[in-house]
Amino acid sequence: MSKTILLTGGAGYIGSHTYVELKSAGYDVVIIDNFSNARPDVIDRLAQITDAPVTWHKGDVLDKAFLAKVFAQHAVDAVIHFAAKKAVGESVEKPLDYFETNCTGFSNILMAMQAAGVFNVVFSSTATVYGEPLSLPYTEDHRIAPVSPYAQSKVTCETLLRQLKDSDPRWNYGVLRYFNPAGAHDSALIGEDPNDIPNNLMPYIAKVATGELPHLNVFGDDYDTPDGTGVRDYIHVVDLARGHVQSVGKLLDDQDTHILNLGTGTGYSVFDMLRSYEKACGTTLPFKIGPRRAGDIDCFYADPASARDYLGFEATRGLDEMCQSSWNWVSRVRNS
Ligand code: UFG
Repeated sequence: MSKTILLTGGAGYIGSHTYVELKSAGYDVVIIDNFSNARPDVIDRLAQITDAPVTWHKGDVLDKAFLAKVFAQHAVDAVIHFAAKKAVGESVEKPLDYFETNCTGFSNILMAMQAAGVFNVVFSSTATVYGEPLSLPYTEDHRIAPVSPYAQSKVTCETLLRQLKDSDPRWNYGVLRYFNPAGAHDSALIGEDPNDIPNNLMPYIAKVATGELPHLNVFGDDYDTPDGTGVRDYIHVVDLARGHVQSVGKLLDDQDTHILNLGTGTGYSVFDMLRSYEKACGTTLPFKIGPRRAGDIDCFYADPASARDYLGFEATRGLDEMCQSSWNWVSRVRNS
């Protein structure tokens, strides 16, 4: 019998791509989402991609009664927890909101799981838990030094998982520390589409390419990197989604616990991204060099060896594929 996975935040950017990969791996999947940062038509699109109806419930991870109802209704084998706030800058302005949604929301999920006898959870963490790099690439045992309330909220959740497992060995967890997700599904039916002005590089460039924003602001060209702009480890969202399938499979098959980076191991600069996107959309994209953004690090990228050795995870899609799939998605949305 196929196993059932509950995806919190399953209508969001990474959640929706993970839904598709889980379905194609043969899992039954239940989505919960409050649609605060996802479009309701994502559900129809997921049905279209997978050619099957989607099981979903609208609700919030802060609503304990809602969570209890979902667990009563479905025989869940494991949870993949995406539902969280993710803007680093906003977290500095609103630390309480970040604590409530990210930490209280997660502890609510864990409590509902415990009450339902479900002890397998994959948690969305982030490379920003490492803070200023002491050495690169970041390995999983790099020291943890969160610099924003957002990063701190992820560290708090990771710590809670460790304490929970210490208190009750029935718990199995996979902590996945993402590097920079980019790109969209091959179908161009799902992707990243923030309503507001994007904080992150790829969706910002996408809006310059569609003409919604006049130019890219490059946040500093005087970093200690080959072209002076910030370097990051961009990973295709479909690769990232596959990493979740492998992680949850390992929990279910081997009652395993792991903490792993999900990245490619290769760093690309802001200009690398811009050039690749120009190739994808076939036009020159305007940019202006501006000051550095507060709190930015010049360069970081993953050591992907543990995820490869442990899960057999390897990112297979390169930068051009990320940009091309992003462009296919945003240009289709704008034309529809
Ligand atoms: N950048 C620009 N202009 C922009 C946006 C970004 O030049 O308009 C630059 C940044 O200075 C940085 C690079 O592009 O050098 C990437 O910036 P992003 O905002 O896209 O990504 P960050 O690495 O700052 O952070 C992201 C997410 C975090 C996540 C982290 C994991 O925002 O939530 O990746 O590595 F934790």
